[in-house]
Amino acid sequence: MKRYEDKVIIVTGGGSGLGRAAALEVAKEGAKLVLVDLNSEGLNESKKEIQAAVETAEIELVEANVSNEKEVEKYVQFTIDKFGKIDGFFNNAGIEGTQNLTEEYGSDEFNRVVNVNLNGVFYGMKYVLKEMKKQGFGSIVNTASVGGIRGVGNQSGYAASKHGVVGLTRNSGVEYGQYGISIKAIAPGAIMTPMVEGSLKQIGGENWEEAGKEFVSVNPMKRFGKPEEVGALVAFLLSDQANFINAAVVPIDGGQSYQY
Ligand SMILES: NC(=O)c1ccc[n+]([C@@H]2O[C@H](COP(=O)([O-])OP(=O)(O)OC[C@H]3O[C@@H](n4cnc5c(N)ncnc54)[C@H](O)[C@@H]3O)[C@@H](O)[C@H]2O)c1
Repeated sequence: MKRYEDKVIIVTGGGSGLGRAAALEVAKEGAKLVLVDLNSEGLNESKKEIQAAVETAEIELVEANVSNEKEVEKYVQFTIDKFGKIDGFFNNAGIEGTQNLTEEYGSDEFNRVVNVNLNGVFYGMKYVLKEMKKQGFGSIVNTASVGGIRGVGNQSGYAASKHGVVGLTRNSGVEYGQYGISIKAIAPGAIMTPMVEGSLKQIGGENWEEAGKEFVSVNPMKRFGKPEEVGALVAFLLSDQANFINAAVVPIDGGQSYQY
């Protein structure tokens, strides 16, 4: 069964990691894609990888900064001009920020992380929901994090922004269910992407791979998650099959956030 035949999906952060993996999953099932990212090289690489797997995949690339409201409005308008509708939106672009104690967490850094991870998600929902409400259908998956449902430590900006994403998801899910639109968040644990590699390098420097082993030693499944596992979850959550899952936050973390 192809769940995405004639469906139009926007993916932010589509130039790397989880965005690329989710884009590939929905493309395999026929989706037309608009990939949005700051990084044009990453976008081109995503297009190449997806078209290597799905030769006929229709993919538009938009270089935009999700923390700039005007640029968000533009990528949404671009999608409508090009394809006439938005079936699904993976509102996923995000940054990790530095890791240190709250008192040392710079205010500029706090604002930078919140601007991308929270404001960017809000702007995306604001413009996409306007279109979805007119259409009377659509689904949104916002990327939160285990750091958005639990205290992890050493990540003030990240924690605040990801808890904010959970709040936005619940609030807007309750508002827009009546229009046939479902909104959910995913809360990934540690999934091996360039972001996690960067984070391990902050902890372990040159010994980051060792730091990685130690990091997952406390995970019930003793391993990192794979981007394709998140991609498969997003492909389900954005599909019509998951329409009744609304305002919910779905962890994908090997059980780590439930462990006492
Ligand atoms: N990998 C994990 O373990 C993990 C865990 C929990 C949550 N997340 C979240 O998943 C999302 C994707 O992370 P990832 O692991 O794929 O990281 P990644 O660094 O591989 O990919 C993130 C992408 O977002 C883009 N981006 C960053 N800032 C942007 C901006 N202002 N405008 C447009 N694009 C921007 C980057 O260029 C990059 O291509 C993030 O929101 C992250 O917080 C990841």
